[in-house]
Amino acid sequence: MERLKILYNRILVRFCIIALSIITFSCDSIEEVDPVVNDPKDQDDDKDEEKDEEIVAIPLKELFKDYFPIGAAITPHHADANTDHGQALIKHFSSVTAENVMKPDALQRNKGVYTWDGADKIVQFAKTNNIQVRGHVLTWHSQTPNWMFYDQDGVLLSKEVALDQLEDHITAVMSRYKGDVYAWDVVNEALFDWDPNGEIIYREDSPWYKMFGESYIDSAFVFAHRADPNAKLFYNDYNSIFSWKRYKIYNLVKRLKDNNIPIDGLGIQGHWFVGTSEENIRTSLDLFRGLGVEIQITELDLPVYLSNEEPGSTVYTETFSARQKEAYKMIFQIFLDYSDIITNVTFWGIGDDASWLDKPGRKAFPFLLDEELQPKPAYFEVQKLLD
Ligand code: G3I
Repeated sequence: MERLKILYNRILVRFCIIALSIITFSCDSIEEVDPVVNDPKDQDDDKDEEKDEEIVAIPLKELFKDYFPIGAAITPHHADANTDHGQALIKHFSSVTAENVMKPDALQRNKGVYTWDGADKIVQFAKTNNIQVRGHVLTWHSQTPNWMFYDQDGVLLSKEVALDQLEDHITAVMSRYKGDVYAWDVVNEALFDWDPNGEIIYREDSPWYKMFGESYIDSAFVFAHRADPNAKLFYNDYNSIFSWKRYKIYNLVKRLKDNNIPIDGLGIQGHWFVGTSEENIRTSLDLFRGLGVEIQITELDLPVYLSNEEPGSTVYTETFSARQKEAYKMIFQIFLDYSDIITNVTFWGIGDDASWLDKPGRKAFPFLLDEELQPKPAYFEVQKLLD
């Protein structure tokens, strides 16, 4: 009986060993013949993905340091090294523009009462971190307090009163930031923006135009030059790449120069989109080159939609990314090609977390940095232009 038990146990142990061997062998076999692992094409794809992930982003300001400063429009809240935005600014940008707080209604909402806090904070942050400041804006029909245009009865001011007030404003603002703000948008958006037949030149609904005609533009530049002879003075506008507007801009700047009005440059705002025409941009730059002034791209953003009719999204899709990669590559190649006349490229924001273009349910995602202020695939496309 005892012998039978021992025999039975031996048979059981051998059976277990054989069974385990079969299971182990089977598993090894499955792994070895795994077609996914052995497909050379897929192995290459894996390597490509690794390569993309391994690319280290070079800070924007380093990338373009031999060409032009790279800027961002900011709020005072961003001008703080203890915030993510402040860190992104220090890392990537060599120029900043106040998105709103240097506009007339922010600096002098009530006549004679200046509010400097926000603008001062931006300028101080920029100085501390070796960042240039573009000033925006001295003379505009929008975001300007009513007292600059109308008396207490709502009647347009006389030319003399309005001119005095404009000169006071420009002198006070430019004097405060003399030496700290190296360039100013002296006049913004004075030209009519939609006029395919080219019959209406100026924005005639602007109170400035109603009071002075076009001569307010000349006066503003003269006041600005008087206030800070070393500052670079710009005319700044949008839709500059369209045939109906580019000639108006050209003619305005040419007239100012011909009349010895002190103007140093032309600001092309750059509120474009992913379907923007390369030819239109190049045609305008070719034309503006003839003016002999500096060109600055002052308010660049490229929202991801092909039209206003395209449904909005709050998710950054592969389609958006593919469009933006192509568009940003094309646009920065142009900027490099014209870098002999382009002296600044400024985004109208920092990253996709916030843009003046965002609407509920429809985010614009217009920048090279994402909502976390990290480089997007389009960023790496731009970086590759400089490899
Ligand atoms: O200041 C008020 C604040 O008190 C209030 O709580 C808040 C509520 O919405 O509104 C705040 O004002 C807004 C302001 O931005 C500051 O955020 C205004 O409503 C809003 O109209 C204003 O928009 C600005 C716009 O200019 C005004 O025309 C955008 O931020 C700014 O990006 C945009 O910038 C312009 C350039 O100056 C010139 N070129 C075009 C560009 C885009 O429109």
